[in-house]
Amino acid sequence: MQQNDLIRRTQAVVWHPCTQMKQHLATPPLAISRGSGVWLYDAAGRAYLDGISSWWVNLFGHANPRINAAICDQLAQIEHVMLAGCTHEPVVALSEQLVALTGLDHVFYGSDGASATEIALKMSFHYWHNCGRPSKTEFISLAQGYHGETLGALSVTDVAIFKDTYAPLLRHSTQAASPDWRLAEAGESAEQYALRAAEDLARILQQQHERVAAVIIEPLVQAAAGMAMHHPAYLRRVRQLCDDYSVHLIADEIAVGFGRTGTLFACEQGDIRPDLMCLSKGITGGYLPLSAVLASDAVYQAFYGDATARGFLHSHSYTGNPLACRAALASLAIFEQDQVLAGNAHKGAYLDAAAMPLRAHPRVANFRRTGMIWAFEVRDAGADFARDFYLAALAQGVLLRPIGNTVYFMPPYVITEEQIDHLLDASFAALTQAI
Ligand SMILES: Cc1ncc(COP(=O)(O)O)c(C=O)c1O
Repeated sequence: MQQNDLIRRTQAVVWHPCTQMKQHLATPPLAISRGSGVWLYDAAGRAYLDGISSWWVNLFGHANPRINAAICDQLAQIEHVMLAGCTHEPVVALSEQLVALTGLDHVFYGSDGASATEIALKMSFHYWHNCGRPSKTEFISLAQGYHGETLGALSVTDVAIFKDTYAPLLRHSTQAASPDWRLAEAGESAEQYALRAAEDLARILQQQHERVAAVIIEPLVQAAAGMAMHHPAYLRRVRQLCDDYSVHLIADEIAVGFGRTGTLFACEQGDIRPDLMCLSKGITGGYLPLSAVLASDAVYQAFYGDATARGFLHSHSYTGNPLACRAALASLAIFEQDQVLAGNAHKGAYLDAAAMPLRAHPRVANFRRTGMIWAFEVRDAGADFARDFYLAALAQGVLLRPIGNTVYFMPPYVITEEQIDHLLDASFAALTQAI
């Protein structure tokens, strides 16, 4: 009853993200009243395993005691102070740690992923302007890429359903071939295909580099495209091309950062250092909106000087919010204290082995994994497959949101072997029901 009332009230006044609201009449939103670990609970007390970490943000479970304690402690000190003209311990400590962990040098903060993309694009453009190369105004991104939905971020995104309507509002950008290994030809390895795809970028750069400020990529996994995965050799080649043609490399690690690909940052697997790195989502363990753009010292120095306009005059009210920074520090402490990356390697291997029956299901194709991200395509999926599968999984006590006919798992790192079994059993059952 309480649940129905909440759904009626949300439908009256809440405009939900990425949703045709009319569809909520037939498929009402899930009304969540609390969470604990991997579990989300509705008002009736039904538990759902959060198989996609609440849009890829949650790392250490809902209501994690250590992150809760850090936020409560910070709350008693200072909840927020503007970062223009002020500073505070949590933002300094977090910046020191991010610099040490990424090998980059300076940290600029935003509030969410899309704002990080905007910051990185503007920084790159402004760098070239300050360096006396104002013709470098364009960006190259990858086919199937996704970098957020504000106008600048959407300009470098390549997902038609999000982009086409707004085309008249967007800046032109060029898309290079995606290194997605599913596009490899028969007999071609993932690495060979990644290097072949990089040659498309080489061709574009050769023609356009005088006008190009930066190449922006999602390293290792193009998540919103349906967990399209590629070989790390691609990263090395792109780094080399960007150096050869004096173009910035922006690594958008918003979805893949903080351990999702098996290493703390995906760039580590290509052994590369981008010029700019965007972080968000898991940065606070999934607690509070925060994003960061890390910049090399070379980028930073181009802004440093006497003229105010030479500085990066970009701001968001909640930049470097102390509560969010404390959540991020608590989350980084868990990585170290619990040796999370090593534990995830075991969990990953366990899930792979336990998923054998699912992999063998006649409807499953391209079963793949990078770190703690799994995905597969479903053969003979109907137009409503994503909704059907979501509902069927929900009935089994698991929250999953396929992207088209791609089902993926991106669970919180605190998932146990027993919970992995539940995730897989529910998915198997949902697969036999969803059409
Ligand atoms: C790679 C990538 N970049 C940017 C974004 C945008 O982040 P936000 O939704 O926080 O604006 C996302 C969101 O899914 C993403 O996956």
